[in-house]
Amino acid sequence: MIITSCGNSEQLAKTIARKLKAKYSPLTLSQFPDGDIYLKFNTSLKGKKLVIVQSFQPHSDQSLFDIIFAAETAKDLGAKKVILVAPYLAYMRQDKRFHSGEAISSKIMAKLLNNSIDKLITIDPHIHRYKSLKDIFTISAKNLTANLIIADYVKKHFHNVAIIGPDWESYQWAEVIAKHVNAEVSVFKKTRFSSRNVKEEMLKKIDLKGKNVVIVDDIISTGHTIIEAVKKAKKMGAASVSAIGVHGLFVENALSKLKKAGLTKIITTNCIEGTTAKIDVSSLIVEELKR
Ligand code: R5P
Repeated sequence: MIITSCGNSEQLAKTIARKLKAKYSPLTLSQFPDGDIYLKFNTSLKGKKLVIVQSFQPHSDQSLFDIIFAAETAKDLGAKKVILVAPYLAYMRQDKRFHSGEAISSKIMAKLLNNSIDKLITIDPHIHRYKSLKDIFTISAKNLTANLIIADYVKKHFHNVAIIGPDWESYQWAEVIAKHVNAEVSVFKKTRFSSRNVKEEMLKKIDLKGKNVVIVDDIISTGHTIIEAVKKAKKMGAASVSAIGVHGLFVENALSKLKKAGLTKIITTNCIEGTTAKIDVSSLIVEELKR
């Protein structure tokens, strides 16, 4: 087995290789003067299983392109199987045509991957209107969850906790984590007016007074969802409010906006590498690759 990465997730790729005692072989990826992609493998792939570890952030479009070029080249060079480990799978939020004429990006992304790779492993993809990854992937597609390692982190680093999911879809993280932490949980109702304008409302009332509230969500992108949930939790008397995201995209200066909103801690997994990535998902991926 050979492990590589297209630039994102390099640390994670190296950790996975070390844990599997497999070779990590970096790709040469650059551009020709006109901007065309230049890609080169630096090890023999003949008869090998290639694992590309590459989250789709930063630069989701470039990542998709790099992955397709890497997978196609690997097959051309004789690799017997190409597995993509994309801890963060982009494009999943555009899972329907919200306005006429729009691209259903998730389907297009899946079609391209179906064509070029043999297996996909991802972590907590944003599955909302699809029932499962099978709705868009024809290849084997494994959906892992970071729920239990997040719950362990909460148990270790927080006390007197209440768990909040900032929208209906987040029940799949909030409820499981709360159960393992043995904490009360409520899921907010989110009304999204635009990408940057959301309103939060608590449906199932729980008492947040004096609690260390931990908001859990799959994606933190512009941060607006979390910021509105923080306001609500503070109004309800929370002693502190922290946020844990599986995928910390932090676009448009989100991290500094979140800090200004008065969050005590902002933590993510290393599905996307960065300063907040304190929860390591490598063991989940290693277990799946050993199967
Ligand atoms: C959406 O339903 C997701 O679960 C997240 O809540 C959302 O993507 C967060 O986006 P933002 O940080 O831009 O509010």
